[in-house]
Amino acid sequence: MSLPIGVLASGRGSNLEAIIRAREAGELPVELKVVISDKREARALRIAAEHGIPAEFLDPRAFPDRVSYDLALAARLKEAGVELVVLAGFMRILSPAFLEQFPLRVINIHPALLPAFPGLEAQRQAWEYGVKISGCTVHFVDVGVDTGPIIAQAAVTVEDGDTPETLAERILEQEHRLLPEAIRWIAQGRVRVQGRRVYVEK
Ligand code: GRF
Repeated sequence: MSLPIGVLASGRGSNLEAIIRAREAGELPVELKVVISDKREARALRIAAEHGIPAEFLDPRAFPDRVSYDLALAARLKEAGVELVVLAGFMRILSPAFLEQFPLRVINIHPALLPAFPGLEAQRQAWEYGVKISGCTVHFVDVGVDTGPIIAQAAVTVEDGDTPETLAERILEQEHRLLPEAIRWIAQGRVRVQGRRVYVEK
């Protein structure tokens, strides 16, 4: 049994690539039903198309407001049979109207150890703050910004010679490992959520 997933991405698509690689290596029991972007030029769309995955641009400007866009997005994902929505660099906040349709069925990868440094440019925020350890977090998406229950985290040491860019590169390597792993746990039915706590069966 493979879990039908949909990926939402706005840009480079390296996390999408990591999911595709894991899938093609037979390490991920999922079926990539569709990749949708809010940016016509997103590299993620090209990557999806190259791998034979339906790749679609859904233009936010074609909708009067955020909720109607989100409802169209949810409808498209449902139509494609998606049961888990993976945000991989999707640069929009999803409204409750969207999330209600996929309860505990939307996950996100964030490039910091939440709850530290939510929001944009998390790697730069962490570097500027001067932390010695940062990393990345996979979490369920709730109505807040980067606030949902945490599924998995990986730590990355900040070195003296780091810049925000070199730190971001090392965090990204961990993202590419952690996101497919968390998806695999969910696909295998091993993840249970109790309030804020997420338990993963061994
Ligand atoms: C990643 O750093 C991810 O943590 C953040 O957005 C970036 C997306 O990168 N949410 P990519 O498009 O997957 O290469």
